[in-house]
Amino acid sequence: MKELIVKDKRAKRRISYGYLWVYSNEVRNLKDFEEGETGILVDEKGDFLATAYINPHSLICARILSRKKVNPNIQFFENKLKKIVEYKKSIVDLNNSRIVFAEGDELPGFILDFYGGRVLSAQFNTMGAEKLSEPFLKAVEIVLGKFPVVIKNQSVFRGKENLEIEVKTKGEVPEEVEIEENGIKMLVPVLKGQKTGYYFDQRDNKKRFSEFANGEVLDLFSYIGGFGLHAAKSAEKVTFVDSSENAIEYCKKNMELNNFSNGEYYKLDAFKAIKIFKENGRNFDLISVDPPAFTKSRKTLDRAIKGYENLNREAFSLLKKGGIVFTMSCSRLVDINTFDRIIEKAVISSGVKLRVIGRLYQAKDHTVLPYMKETEYLKGLVLMRIK
Ligand SMILES: C[S@@+](CC[C@H](N)C(=O)[O-])C[C@H]1O[C@@H](n2cnc3c(N)ncnc32)[C@H](O)[C@@H]1O
Repeated sequence: MKELIVKDKRAKRRISYGYLWVYSNEVRNLKDFEEGETGILVDEKGDFLATAYINPHSLICARILSRKKVNPNIQFFENKLKKIVEYKKSIVDLNNSRIVFAEGDELPGFILDFYGGRVLSAQFNTMGAEKLSEPFLKAVEIVLGKFPVVIKNQSVFRGKENLEIEVKTKGEVPEEVEIEENGIKMLVPVLKGQKTGYYFDQRDNKKRFSEFANGEVLDLFSYIGGFGLHAAKSAEKVTFVDSSENAIEYCKKNMELNNFSNGEYYKLDAFKAIKIFKENGRNFDLISVDPPAFTKSRKTLDRAIKGYENLNREAFSLLKKGGIVFTMSCSRLVDINTFDRIIEKAVISSGVKLRVIGRLYQAKDHTVLPYMKETEYLKGLVLMRIK
């Protein structure tokens, strides 16, 4: 394998404590490499640092696969996957989980979710991951067994690496798979749904949401209804709002599947829905605000921050006295401190008196590495309106 020279001392130190990215201004001979080629990272003296895959056309030009000299073949992925699976089994129900969380599980660019213990959903988000997808999937079969796989290569990050947006299947992948989450049954549209199909990252937050369920519940940005369904048993009514027709159809299907008949459905922009509720004088006892990432780039961060502020200000105005709101952001670039400031401003401008009663985080199968902050993305607050 060819050697890529890391010239930057700080980059070398970061690699030594486990950081997985190297930037294009930190290396010397990038031109020697093809997109997605595996290589060896060495320092200026030629001493070995790590094995990585390299993309000379990406700002993050190298992503580390191992701090040992390895050949990323089936055997390599098999060994890695066995360790990851053993760990994930010890913390979550593996059959309904994110088995591989890219950088978090030290497999940069690789995502693997398991639905109902029957269907696997994968994403390859970088050129390097794409090129290594075959040995990865073969190793998956060895470690987990033979299951149909949908490859949902639809992430915006693929565009940055000159990769096509596409959905492919291996084996007979059904339209939808039934899963169970905290005792709630969910039909997941694995082929046509968003991301890999479902948001396992909110598993623990949905469970907490169910603990506050009563009266009128609003699930804003509901997708297929995860938050609302968790509240439906104890609520008088659950109102689902999502701009996607398919998502709202699945909210209905999932309410039926669990024998709940207290649903109300709006295929609508969330801001428009809030306006209608305000005009009609509707208030809620429990609200979930779980918007899509408003930005994936620093260039649009300020606009995204304003967007979150406006959204939360409006959502807070719908709360009954004593009511509770779960508000979240999955934008990686909006860190916890920034999110706190957004909520502070939104509370002040809404004129609604609220107290913070809890924090929300990504579910534990979405592994966070303390020395690689980029693995942390989902954050939120639970607020209660003061009577
Ligand atoms: C992060 S996902 C929500 C996930 C869901 N709460 C869950 O836990 O399963 C964001 C959702 O917002 C929806 N969405 C995007 N823009 C919207 C808008 N302007 N108004 C309403 N929904 C929107 C998307 O269709 C998507 O289902």
